[in-house]
Amino acid sequence: MDDTFVPLTPLSLLYHSPFTPKKTRNMIDNKAIFNISYGLFVLVARQGEKDNACIINVAQQVTSEPLQIAICVNKANLTHDMVLKTLKFNLCPLSEEATMKPFQHFGFQSGREVNKFAECEQEFRTDNGLLYLPKYINSVISCVVTKSIDLGTHTMFIARVMEAKVLTDSPSITYAYYQQHIKPKPMAAAQPSSGGKKKWVCEVCGYVYEGDELPADFICPWCKHPASDFKLLE
Ligand SMILES: Cc1cc2nc3c(=O)[nH]c(=O)nc-3n(C[C@H](O)[C@H](O)[C@H](O)COP(=O)(O)O)c2cc1C
Repeated sequence: MDDTFVPLTPLSLLYHSPFTPKKTRNMIDNKAIFNISYGLFVLVARQGEKDNACIINVAQQVTSEPLQIAICVNKANLTHDMVLKTLKFNLCPLSEEATMKPFQHFGFQSGREVNKFAECEQEFRTDNGLLYLPKYINSVISCVVTKSIDLGTHTMFIARVMEAKVLTDSPSITYAYYQQHIKPKPMAAAQPSSGGKKKWVCEVCGYVYEGDELPADFICPWCKHPASDFKLLE
């Protein structure tokens, strides 16, 4: 039998099946997956006296009665552990006012290493005691987690909306808008060095390293990708 053959399975079995379907990789065109549209959000949590937040793109309203949101967060993120422990979060849609700054600040470094809210000029909190940003976002939605689903690398949290308010009328951004208008274009952002030093650009986020040689163990300070993701500018 062709090993890509996937037997038809009743839908009810798929929902509860502990088995993953047989190999379908060669039938998957990633471009089709990239055509799924996403928003971008700051996900805020608070555990004890620690405030933290990260950027996520997987968030959606899933039901209206009751009003429920689903988010998906990588288990490696500190924010993930904080949400899992406290069962509370603020979801803040990023707006067209956002620059690269909130992405670098909340999406390219972990609250395990830095206090991301240390230099927050003004403190804004919702009734649940969690922070939200004074700019870059257009709304804040406070949620309580009712269910979590272990998806391997990520956890999906299903949550009830407890409070929601609009802050500005600036439109929400999509992932495609971020790629086109906010994320630096690696090659455009960096011109080759004219002096004695060489330049390497991070092909993931556009960070430019300048020096005689790029250290083999170099880690991009913006997006944490390794030296292998850097390209020499010539
Ligand atoms: C554009 C963008 C989209 C991201 N989307 C997600 C996402 O959907 N889920 C997720 O878990 N992390 C996502 N991240 C990565 C986290 O924001 C990042 O790992 C962050 O540094 C984690 O911080 P923390 O450890 O303080 O929670 C995204 C980052 C960026 C820049």
